[in-house]
Amino acid sequence: MSTPSHLTARRSAPLNGLVRAPGDKSMSHRALILGAMATGVTDIAGLLEGDDVLATARAVEAFGAEVERLGEGRWRVTGQGGFKPPAGVIDCGNAGTGVRLLMGAAAGHAVTTTFDGDASLRKRPMKRVTGPLADMGARFDWQAAEDRLPVRITGGGLTGIDYEQIVASAQIKSAILLAGLNADGVTTVTEPERSRDHTERMLRAFGVEVGVVPMGTGWRVSLKGGQALTGTAVSVPGDPSSAAFPLAAGLIVPGSEVTVEGVMLNPLRTGLFETWREMGADLTVSNRRMAGGEEVGDVTARHSKLRGVVVPPERAASMIDEYPVLAATAAFATGATVMRGIGEMRVKESDRIALMAAGLKACGVMVEEEPEGFTVFGGPVRGGATVTTHGDHRIAMSHLVLGLAAEDAVTVDEPGMIATSFPDFIELMRSLGADIAASE
Ligand code: S3P
Repeated sequence: MSTPSHLTARRSAPLNGLVRAPGDKSMSHRALILGAMATGVTDIAGLLEGDDVLATARAVEAFGAEVERLGEGRWRVTGQGGFKPPAGVIDCGNAGTGVRLLMGAAAGHAVTTTFDGDASLRKRPMKRVTGPLADMGARFDWQAAEDRLPVRITGGGLTGIDYEQIVASAQIKSAILLAGLNADGVTTVTEPERSRDHTERMLRAFGVEVGVVPMGTGWRVSLKGGQALTGTAVSVPGDPSSAAFPLAAGLIVPGSEVTVEGVMLNPLRTGLFETWREMGADLTVSNRRMAGGEEVGDVTARHSKLRGVVVPPERAASMIDEYPVLAATAAFATGATVMRGIGEMRVKESDRIALMAAGLKACGVMVEEEPEGFTVFGGPVRGGATVTTHGDHRIAMSHLVLGLAAEDAVTVDEPGMIATSFPDFIELMRSLGADIAASE
């Protein structure tokens, strides 16, 4: 099927069924990158085959790893124990995680690499990562404008640093740690709040010793340079950030009951589930088990009468990608849902505060925007709008979910971008009974 120019979601009959979430995007990037840095074979099961991750697969191949697709979600990476000089530009597409982690990994090697991305990625700040990498000794040559892709990096000869982050960011932490693997001495990163810890966990699975010490509300992570990675098997559980969309639809479409199986339940990723429960959501987890070093479970959402809440700002790191879909569900709640301390949302694939506020307002929802947050006032959701997504997959999916319970249809542009994180989104939603169709 060719990609339509628009997608339209219409008020749907109750959604019902059991679906499987696609593989976790954060873990998929990391499995490919660590596999490429390691010596030997890394067999990955459950890899997300979204455009972002496929760009990372091509990148690690360009850095000298052998990459094979063995079957659906099953990939084999044979690492050479380090990165070789790539031929040509490394194009990371839309993927902020891909480019930032790869820049960290490349910085530790004596190679010169030019990194680039699509129009959205070219707008995103890169100095948050290149700053600390430069402190470690990597050199950067901005090709167009300071702080923006494309950038040429010359790595190698790094020295470990002790870095204190201002905002909790797993991307920054991970980039520094990956560079630190090939730096002299110890590299330490301190975070003000705890961000997702997939890099730390996965490094250990590859045989690296990583020290983690709690520090107030955050932690201090350190590793010694010169440690070798050994290829291993990685099983990627379902992505809670993607599972959020069918579950949100289950909560807001009357009469629904939707189960997503195999969802990763790492507490640093489940802030949205906690928030929904505080809003009165009927959200249950069954069949808790361990998979790929992470706790997973089957999550069921039933249609619920939601009420507005104040989301604690310190929860932001554990649900930073989920505020758009939270805002969509908050539109159906009674009262106001206050989301603050989320200025980071403005530098994601789009300015997500501005686009959610604009999209919801176009659908008849009252929204108050602030520099570092927004408040959604629940009530009747009229819909009947075409929403500009600026190519942001989560803005598109959030509005399509909203359209399933709005009075009139909701249309989004650039639906092809949904494939960056959730290639089977439309088929999966339709299998539950969602009325989502191509439109012009
Ligand atoms: C990610 C970290 C988050 C998140 C992104 C994935 C990761 O970004 O928004 O989608 O895999 O490390 P920040 O670390 O910049 O908050």
